[in-house]
Amino acid sequence: MQYEYLSVNKVGIVILGIETSCDDTSAAIIRDGYMLSNVISSQEIHRQYGGVVPELASRAHIQNIVPVVDTAIKQANVKKEDINAVAFTRGPGLLGSLLVGTSFAKGFALASNAKLVAVNHLHAHILSNFIQEEGKEKKLPKFPFLCLLVSGGHTQIIVLRDYFDMEIIGQTIDDAAGEAFDKCAKVMGLSYPGGPVVDRHAREGDSSVFKFSKPNIAGLNYSFSGLKTSFLYTLRDKVKEDAAFVEKNIPNLCASLQQTIVDILLDKLIKAVATTGIKEIVIAGGVAANSGLRNAVTNIANEKGWTAHLPEFRFTTDNAAMIGITGYFKYINGMFTTQNVAPAARFEDMGV
Ligand code: KG4
Ligand code: ZN
Repeated sequence: MQYEYLSVNKVGIVILGIETSCDDTSAAIIRDGYMLSNVISSQEIHRQYGGVVPELASRAHIQNIVPVVDTAIKQANVKKEDINAVAFTRGPGLLGSLLVGTSFAKGFALASNAKLVAVNHLHAHILSNFIQEEGKEKKLPKFPFLCLLVSGGHTQIIVLRDYFDMEIIGQTIDDAAGEAFDKCAKVMGLSYPGGPVVDRHAREGDSSVFKFSKPNIAGLNYSFSGLKTSFLYTLRDKVKEDAAFVEKNIPNLCASLQQTIVDILLDKLIKAVATTGIKEIVIAGGVAANSGLRNAVTNIANEKGWTAHLPEFRFTTDNAAMIGITGYFKYINGMFTTQNVAPAARFEDMGV
């Protein structure tokens, strides 16, 4: 069942993937499930505001989209007329940003007579684990698998029974894991996005120095707001004693924070494996780049006999290759959309 789509003998299917859900403008070319190019233009303008400013993001997408797509097509060495379909992120994300990618995709499809494929950004994060490259064959996840999807906006445990059969069995009831990294980093005065910065400092620190509160909720759901508050209160109290506390303790604070987030994530993942009996594990989303999480998943997988799939770093954060590969699977299954499609800011408003 599982490689049904990959083994179909259709060759020369070229997909242009477009991603504009947040602050990265990205375009990629996928041919027959293999990535030929993946161009990402990250918008630096948000850094000075300590977070993404939606209106500035959509304006930057408008400026970036044509050169980014053009570069992706050139790098892949394909012709515009060879493109069979344009796959674009329909949602979830920032509405103005999504609108730029959606409108561009529609225009491109009309002008080049290509099909249109709408992609769910979260579905694409998961399927990023199926991106292949010529000459770099890798072991693909086998269905059914469990995906720990950890990004700036979402934290979910999802069962994938097939490419298009996803069931969310656990999710955050408040902040996402990436948000916990970013918000705590901001409190320490670190730059945005905070996740990668915390990760870097954590390598120099001792994770046992500080203890932050972990949630105590039943089932497979997550919560990160308590941790955020506990982190904030610890800093507030320590700074009263020593005004230079934060700057003196950045590595240990980052290591302890990262360890707490990783422990929270793994606690429920272990429960999900016990509940479902599924030991094929995939991680995805921006926080899947975190070295602490990657090490912990690898170690637990070895210990418990799971098969773990960790995406390459460049496919963890937002990129169009993941939109292209998802578009490819939808294309070969005839899952097209029309020129009437509208972006969907919320996950609940769209299927796979
Ligand atoms: O998937 P993504 O690029 O965008 C969303 O769809 O949300 O994820 C962005 C999130 C940010 O919160 C960022 O801080 C986090 O991923 N992130 C990391 C790391 N790299 C990115 N968090 C922890 N450690 C990292 N190395
Ligand atoms: Zn994302």
